[in-house]
Formats: sequence, C-alpha cells, structure tokens
Amino acid sequence: MSARVDVLLGAQWGDEGKGKVVDVITPGYAVIARFQGGPNAGHTLLFEGRKHVLHTIPSGIFREGVMNLVGNGVVIDPVIFLKEVDALAKAGVDVKDRLLIGRRAHLILPTHRALDAASEAEKGKEKIGSTLKGIGPTYMDKTGRNGFRVGDLERADMMDRYRALVRKHERLLAGHEHVIDWKAYEGEWLDAVQRLRTITLVDSEHWLDEQLNAGRKVLAEGAQGTLLDIDFGTYPFVTSSNTITAGACTGLGVPPTRIGRVIGIFKAYCTRVGSGPFPTELNDEVGERIRQAGHEFGSTTGRARRCGWLDLPALKYAVMINGVSELAMMKADVLSGMDTIRVCTHYKVNGRLTDRLPYDITGTVEPVYADLPGWGALSVSEALPASLEAYIRRIEEATGVPVKLVSLGPDRAETLMRDTAAVAG
Ligand code: IMP
Repeated sequence: MSARVDVLLGAQWGDEGKGKVVDVITPGYAVIARFQGGPNAGHTLLFEGRKHVLHTIPSGIFREGVMNLVGNGVVIDPVIFLKEVDALAKAGVDVKDRLLIGRRAHLILPTHRALDAASEAEKGKEKIGSTLKGIGPTYMDKTGRNGFRVGDLERADMMDRYRALVRKHERLLAGHEHVIDWKAYEGEWLDAVQRLRTITLVDSEHWLDEQLNAGRKVLAEGAQGTLLDIDFGTYPFVTSSNTITAGACTGLGVPPTRIGRVIGIFKAYCTRVGSGPFPTELNDEVGERIRQAGHEFGSTTGRARRCGWLDLPALKYAVMINGVSELAMMKADVLSGMDTIRVCTHYKVNGRLTDRLPYDITGTVEPVYADLPGWGALSVSEALPASLEAYIRRIEEATGVPVKLVSLGPDRAETLMRDTAAVAG
C-alpha cells in the first residue's frame, strides 16, 4: 500500500524545537525530507550528552537506515553544507549512503550573501533582521528565473552559468553602498561546489513517488515557522519561503492528496528573533528570565531571542493554515517555578475583542490575557502536574487539536507522549 508524507513544522516564529522532535520520531519513518529554507535554520539535537546543530541537512541523519533528502524547495550554501557533512563525519556519521539532494534545489552564491547584506544595511531601522545567509536574494533569483540549481553542476557549461549570474549580481551590487568582500569567499565556495558533486543527486519528485509507492513513510521537516511564512507570516518581517504545509508539496514535489498527519510544534511560550511585530513580547525581567532559563539565543546567529507569553490567536491561525492534526509542546520546563503563567486568549483591535490574527499586527493589537497557575519541576518519570495538564487542555480547547507530545528538556530522553484518546483530533 502506498505510504503518506507526514509534515512536521513550526507553529510560531521558528526555533520551536523541530530538530529534537524529528529526531525523536524518526524511527517511525524511512525518509526525512527538508522542503524549504536553508542555512538560516538551526536545528539542535541533543543525545548521549552531545549537542549537534544542523542547518541544511535533515534531522534524521543520525539514525541508521533512514534516508535524508534535501528537497527542491531548499536553498543550499555549499560551504555551510559541507561544514555540516564534515562535522557529522567527526561525530561518526558517514552521510554518503544516507543523504540525497534534489537536483532542482537552488544554490546560494557568494554574491547572494553580498546582496542580502547590502539590502539589510540600507534598510536601517526597517531591516528584517535577516540571518544574512543570502536566503532572500537566492529565492528572488529562483522566482525571477535566473537561479543556479544543483542540477546545473552536472552541465558542461556550469562555470559559464555561474559567471553570468555573478555578472548580473555585480551590476546590482554597483548600486549599493555597503558591499561585503564576497570575492574572498568565492574560492572556498567553488571548492565546496566540487565536493558537493560527490553527494548523490536525485530527481526528488520521482524518487519520493517511488518511496511512497513502496510503502516507505516520509516525514517532511519544516524550517522557520508559520508566522515567518512569505505569504501568511507577519510580512514583510518574514523569510522568503513557504514554511507552511503547502510548502511541503511544492518543496518536495508531492501532491496534497498524499499528505497524512501534520504535526505543529510550539513552545509553551513564544520567541522571535529578528525584527517584526510580536504582540505578547515581554520587555521586562520575566522575559529575561525565560530567555536565560530557555537558553533563547539563536543557534545560527547567536542573537538573543525576544521572549513573550503564549499567543493563542497566533497558534490557532497556524493550526488553521497548516491543517495541523496534532501538536507537540516544547520547553514547558522553562516556565517551571513561576507562580502565574499568562496566556494570550484574544486580541483587542480598535476596542473590539477577536481571536483572529488580523492583516496587520504591528502596534495595532493589544493582547488580552488569562492568568493560570504555574507548575514546579517536571520529570518524565512522573505524571504531569495538574496545573500543566490544565494549561495543555486550555490550548487543546482553543485550537481543537490534541497535544500529543510534551518535551520537558532538550535531550531525546526528556520527551513524554500523552494519551490523548479523549481529545478530539
Ligand atoms: P532570513 O530568512 O535569513 O532572510 O531572515 C528573515 C527573518 O526570519 C529574520 O527575522 C530571521 O531572524 C528569521 N529567521 C530566519 N530563519 C530563522 C530560523 O530558523 N529561526 C527563527 N527565525 C528565523
């Protein structure tokens, strides 16, 4: 019987802990596939006392017998990609027979990074807070039909194509004031491109079709989060790809009818890194306490993440737009020890209460909170405290989907599966 593609994605502004959950549930899948984003992502995994950070390579790479696919919707920086491959080799993982790249994926050129940096520098106060990995300019070239794809590495005229695109970028850069020295990066980039050719390239849409027809289950691993989606996020403070379930279809070449479960990952609170609206943001000592307890510093850029209370209107929106069938709640342990935990149930917009995410949330929405009792220390070997169960039930009632997984710490082992048979889903 043909298998399904389950989708796992972020239901907030990214950094929800997707890497950990993929790693925990990977044994149930034959294939883990990344469908969008690129080295702007940082998926952290912790097991057997060691921490691993992945940027482009899917989080199933540590499990034997599982294939990992970098799909056509991903943008790849060869230098960063190969650094990941080398770090994995050091950790005893030989990626050769577990990693595939879709030929239709686009490459991030050194000049894309320069364009990203120049554009951000000139935006001044309006800057997006990009990770400066060249993501936006690479997707612009993709949709502008100028891009350089991984499959182009197999063409005899590869260098001509590369040079033509660089020339176009040089013309664009000539109009900018803040141009980084991208040429210093070019040699390393060209070497990395040669090595990238040693990784098996596939026509991922056909390859996935074969896998599914053979009954091999696929997990599509999202990067960033729903509120950073190019269409449905807090535009223009978003990333340049579709981070939502629909992105898994276009980013892998699988039809919507083959999508199975959709797992939405969220933190028991909210964070955001970079600029843009954040209604429940805490600019006080509570926010600082969450930042320190949750180690809320970017795994790609090291930037301090902005922290705030859980935002239910935003979570409901993510459930709706993605068709989330089940939720996974991360980092409940970070809130341990707080007497009261607030959750935003509604927004006040122009004096009226709503639980919908409006078109523009910049300074126009006022969060309305419910105060709930907090909880103490948590342990996977004990039942969850009643106050945490009540918090989870509140989320399930608001979103209409069950919270099936609760993470109580960064390690693989600190994960609890909830019996949600009683919850509609
Ligand atoms: P870019 O995708 O690097 O251009 O960044 C655009 C926005 O998305 C910025 O606010 C980034 O901080 C944010 N962003 C990009 N990737 C991630 C991620 O993996 N986690 C969280 N935020 C991200």
